Order: sequence, then structure tokens, then C-alpha cells
Amino acid sequence: MIRRDDVSPSRKLSSAALTLFLVGLLTFVFRVLAQEQPTPSKAASNRSAPSPAAGASSQPIAFSHRIHAGTNAIPCQLCHTYARRGPVAGIPSVQRCVQCHQTVTPEEPEVVKLMAYWKDKKPIAWVRVHDLPDFVRFTHKPHVAAGVACQTCHGDVAKMEGAVQTESLSMGWCLNCHKERHAPTDCLVCHY
Ligand code: HEC
Ligand code: HEC
Ligand code: HEC
Ligand code: HEC
Ligand code: HEC
Repeated sequence: MIRRDDVSPSRKLSSAALTLFLVGLLTFVFRVLAQEQPTPSKAASNRSAPSPAAGASSQPIAFSHRIHAGTNAIPCQLCHTYARRGPVAGIPSVQRCVQCHQTVTPEEPEVVKLMAYWKDKKPIAWVRVHDLPDFVRFTHKPHVAAGVACQTCHGDVAKMEGAVQTESLSMGWCLNCHKERHAPTDCLVCHY
């Protein structure tokens, strides 16, 4: 009889490698799609492709949405607390991570790294994935209030490791949905 403990590490490893590969492939496909989306305005065509910084490998800690929001079904808003209330969804503080990881897998190498940030009282410098130009006004609150799902704008994050940008975030993209959903389309709604 094979003890489960004997096989799981290598299995874990190979499924992790497979997932990473798939996420990489998906990222690539999404980037190509984002570039090929019809661009109704000049503004849209100026938008660069989704940030090459996206993905877990470029983050200071290999944080996995798949493990947290997928396997363990932790709600998005437990970590991104401000999406409902404020202008930004926000990235969780080190304290938020430590609340769980003081007891959850404290011996895992990436969690040991996390604890070092906590001990040194240093914030984790997460690389920003989405970044609209400063002249655009976007807030999460009215969208969450209108029942637009996170996934509509961010893709199936619960299957991703590090978050990646899946939509163009172009003006045309915003306007298409605003027209469809009868949300306002005045220039000053989105521009200062
Ligand atoms: C209508 C589309 C839309 C919906 C719905 C949406 N987001 Fe966003 N989200 C965006 C855009 C656009 C940005 C980039 C904002 C910027 O660069 O100023 C963003 C940025 C973010 C960020 C980066 C940090 C920040 O606040 O700027 C996080 C985290 C995030 N969203 C999480 C969520 C979560 C969790 C939900 C669901 C509760 C959600 N979003 C729903 C469009 C959306
Ligand atoms: C609500 C509780 C909770 C919060 C908050 C939380 N985690 Fe986790 N985390 C978990 C669980 C549960 C697992 C899966 C552990 C397992 O494999 O059994 C996990 C796994 C991990 C792993 C992979 C370790 C392993 O077991 O392979 C890392 C790295 C990690 N978390 C980092 C973080 C970081 C960084 C934050 C803050 C941004 C965070 N976590 C916030 C519960 C949490
Ligand atoms: C356990 C905490 C945790 C949970 C649960 C979680 N996230 Fe995150 N999220 C993070 C951390 C940490 C980052 C920064 C690392 C990264 O970009 O992957 C992040 C980044 C993001 C970003 C990119 C932010 C940027 O820089 O533009 C989006 C979008 C996002 N999360 C959406 C979601 C959605 C949607 C869900 C639910 C399906 C979710 N998250 C669940 C911790 C969490
Ligand atoms: C998937 C659909 C969808 C997308 C994509 C979307 N929005 Fe919205 N937006 C809505 C809905 C629905 C509302 C709520 C309208 C209401 O409350 O009547 C809204 C409301 C808003 C509001 C508040 C309007 C007010 O009443 O003052 C702003 C600002 C806004 N969106 C900006 C943006 C920007 C900027 C983008 C692109 C980066 C964007 N939205 C993308 C659906 C969307
Ligand atoms: C629903 C939100 C929304 C509305 C309404 C909207 N815009 Fe935009 N606009 C955006 C976003 C998002 C961008 C940034 C696109 C990007 O980075 O590719 C943008 C970019 C622009 C730019 C910058 C072009 C460039 O080359 O960078 C101009 C100019 C502009 N908009 C003008 C307008 C005018 C004029 C109106 C009214 C007729 C309008 N916008 C209405 C969301 C909106």
C-alpha cells in the first residue's frame, strides 16, 4: 500500500507545473485577444497590451488565487475589502495574510517569506497588474452595487495563480457595457 504522504509532494509539484504552464498559455492567448479586439476609438488603440508584469512569477511572493479563491473558496472581498465601499478594491495587508498563516502551513517556504515581512514590519511590494491612466475616473463601488461580477471585468481569477489582465480596459470596452446596461456615457462620468 502506498501512503498518501509519499506520493502527494511529487503529484503536487507536477500539477503545479502543469497549472503554471496553462496559466502562462492562457495569459498569452488573452494578450493576443486583447490586442486583436476591435478598437472603436483612437484612445483604445493607444492602450498597451496587458502588463507583462502580470503573473505570480513576477510577484515578491508566489501568491496563488487558485489555492485561495479556488480550492479554499475564500471570498474575493475578504481580501479585496474595499471593492464594495471605496474607490479602489485594494490589495490585502500583510496582517490580513498573517491572520490565517500564523496557523495555516507556516512551514511552507513562501509562507516563511511572508512571515519575514511581518517580522520586519515591511509591506509587500506587489506588482500592479491593472493601471488605468490618471485622467480616467473608475470606481468599483457603483459596479459592485449594480451587481456586475468581478469575473466580468477580471476573468476567472479563481483559476489564476497571480492575477492577470484579461480585458483591454479601453474606452470602447467601458462604453460598450455602459450602453448595454444603460449606465451613463457622458464624458465627465469617466473623465475629470
Ligand atoms: C466594471 C468592471 C470591474 C468590476 C466589476 C470589478 N473590477 Fe476590479 N478593476 C477594474 C478596473 C478597470 C481596474 C483598474 C483600476 C485603475 O487602474 O484605476 C480594477 C482594479 C482592481 C484591483 C487592483 C487594485 C485597485 O483597487 O485598483 C483589484 C484588487 C480588483 N480590481 C479587484 C476586484 C474585485 C475583487 C471585484 C469584485 C468584487 C472587482 N474588482 C470588480 C474593473 C472592474
Ligand atoms: C482566510 C485565510 C487566508 C488568508 C487571508 C490568506 N491565506 Fe494563504 N492560504 C490559505 C489556505 C487555506 C492555504 C492552503 C494551505 C494548504 O495547502 O493546505 C493557503 C496557501 C498559501 C500559500 C501556499 C502555501 C502552500 O501551502 O503551498 C501561500 C504562499 C500563501 N497562502 C500566501 C498568502 C498571502 C501572501 C496572503 C495575503 C495576501 C494569504 N496567503 C492570505 C489561507 C489564507
Ligand atoms: C487570500 C487573499 C485574496 C483573495 C481571496 C483574492 N485575492 Fe485577488 N489578490 C490578492 C493579492 C495578494 C494580490 C496581489 C498579487 C497579484 O496580483 O496576484 C491580488 C491581486 C488581484 C488583482 C489584480 C490587482 C492589480 O494589481 O491590478 C485582481 C483583479 C484580483 N486580485 C481579483 C480577485 C478576485 C476577482 C478574487 C475572487 C475570485 C480575488 N482576487 C480573491 C489576494 C487575494
Ligand atoms: C460590464 C459592464 C461595465 C463595464 C465593463 C464598465 N462599467 Fe462602469 N458601470 C456599469 C454599470 C452597470 C454602472 C452603474 C450604473 C448605475 O448605477 O445606474 C456603472 C457605473 C459607472 C460609473 C458611475 C456612474 C455614475 O452614476 O456616476 C463610472 C464612473 C463608471 N461606471 C466608469 C467606468 C469605466 C471608466 C469603465 C472602464 C474602465 C467602466 N465603467 C466599465 C457597467 C460597466
Ligand atoms: C465609460 C467611461 C468613459 C466614457 C463615458 C468616456 N471615456 Fe474617454 N476614456 C475612457 C478610458 C477607460 C480611457 C483610457 C483608454 C486607454 O487607456 O486605452 C479613455 C481615453 C480617452 C481619451 C484619451 C485618448 C488617448 O489618446 O489617450 C480621450 C481624448 C477621451 N477618452 C475622450 C472622451 C470623450 C470626448 C468622451 C465623451 C464623448 C469620453 N472620453 C467618454 C473611458 C471613458
